[in-house]
Amino acid sequence: MTEKLQSEAVVLFGATGDLARRMLLPSLYFLDADGFLPERLAIIGTARQAADTAAFVRQAREAIAERAQPQGIDEAVWARFAARLGYCSADATTAEGAACLKAQLGEARAPIFYLALSPSLYVRVCSALAEAGLATPESRIVLEKPIGRDLESSRVINTAVAEAFDERQVFRIDHYLGKETVQNLLALRFANTLFEPLWNNLTIDHVQITVAETEGVGDRWPYYDEYGALRDMVQNHMLQLLCLVAMEPPSDMAPDSVRNEKVKVLRSLRPFTRAEAAINSIRGQYTAGVVGGKPAASYESERGQPSGTETFVALRADIDNWRWAGVPFFLRTGKGLPERRTQIAIQFKGVPHSIFDQAAKADLVANQLIIDLQPDEDIELLLMNKAPGLSQGGMRLQSLPLSLSLLKAYAGPNARRRIAYERLLLDVIHDNSTLFVRRDEVEQAWAWIDGIADAWADSATAAKPYAAGSWGPAGAFALIERSGRAWHD
Ligand code: BG6
Repeated sequence: MTEKLQSEAVVLFGATGDLARRMLLPSLYFLDADGFLPERLAIIGTARQAADTAAFVRQAREAIAERAQPQGIDEAVWARFAARLGYCSADATTAEGAACLKAQLGEARAPIFYLALSPSLYVRVCSALAEAGLATPESRIVLEKPIGRDLESSRVINTAVAEAFDERQVFRIDHYLGKETVQNLLALRFANTLFEPLWNNLTIDHVQITVAETEGVGDRWPYYDEYGALRDMVQNHMLQLLCLVAMEPPSDMAPDSVRNEKVKVLRSLRPFTRAEAAINSIRGQYTAGVVGGKPAASYESERGQPSGTETFVALRADIDNWRWAGVPFFLRTGKGLPERRTQIAIQFKGVPHSIFDQAAKADLVANQLIIDLQPDEDIELLLMNKAPGLSQGGMRLQSLPLSLSLLKAYAGPNARRRIAYERLLLDVIHDNSTLFVRRDEVEQAWAWIDGIADAWADSATAAKPYAAGSWGPAGAFALIERSGRAWHD
């Protein structure tokens, strides 16, 4: 195997923006603190804001200090980190912008161009980089979502990026793949022998994936109003979770081994017809309510005018392949929900025949594997037990969890929950794209999402109101109850 080339520079486009401040600069600092950054790695910020390196260093320090609580900044690490920083005040879509970067980059090998920018600028930035001779075969480009708003617009972006960079150089971020608990799905499924023989339609009844957020959209509405929950969450994060649960075992962890399996799942998703969308999907929008005991504004008032955009989606996805035929995947996500929870619930089938008498039979519930990804990191396998004690009509049964709390298992003085971007940045530096989304994955996901969006548009399916602080519109319950199942709450 050829040795992977470590990057010697990261260029952060949009370096003064929200993502760089909240995630990227702190992640790079933490990587440096743990000794993970190559010695020679330079970090060059670029944005239109008129500033110089000294000002950028000050801004970076503020951003990192906010994130480094309660320990605060380690001055020795900071000195090393600050020495890596440089800044180009420039419009990245222009030749002058690229020239400034070129000068800062000097001889640095395998530079990473991280576009923390509006996707509307991707095409122009890529061509400016190509024209300046910066899109060398060693270089890497990192793209944030959303890559397009539908299949067609994502193809336009991907095609333009491909004119400057080979697919192997393109790293499309889905930050959920950088979360420890999401990667732990791979360990759970493929580092244990227990589950794989059961992981199919013979034993599993259905799967639920919930990504619930308590916050509203707030001042992000100019972006959000154009996308809505379907495009903001389902197209990427939720489908990635679904893929990791549903994919066949890859032969190894090589980027294409894993991504080939994910694409197969996406290709097997049953497309929505208009009639199916009416039954198997529901969109909602929060009205004023109470979340966590505090009054919460409606989306409409945040937006400042009525809007048709959904802030909640629930749907039933069917995967038409041998493993999953007849096993529905129920997905729901929304803002303004009662609690923050990212959870995958695997509902097993009941025992084929009960040997117990009437009372115990009534106690019998099917096994569940509950994988909590956020905010707590827990895995629980719910198993039936004999309830202790004597009872007149024979034994009684009770469901109890076999429980793995990752927080407790890995607690310690130095335990720190890593930012998902730390893993991802490190992987780009080391040229490992296993946890990044390949072009065909993004496009296949869009093709399926377009089917739902088109069905909603054709039938003028309105977003149903739900009070902030509730679990979405009533239709979300009807959607799952229609098949005799219920949300795991
Ligand atoms: C982003 C979405 O990709 O993910 C946001 O644009 C959402 O709307 C966020 O709030 C959720 O991420 P996390 O890591 O907080 O679960």
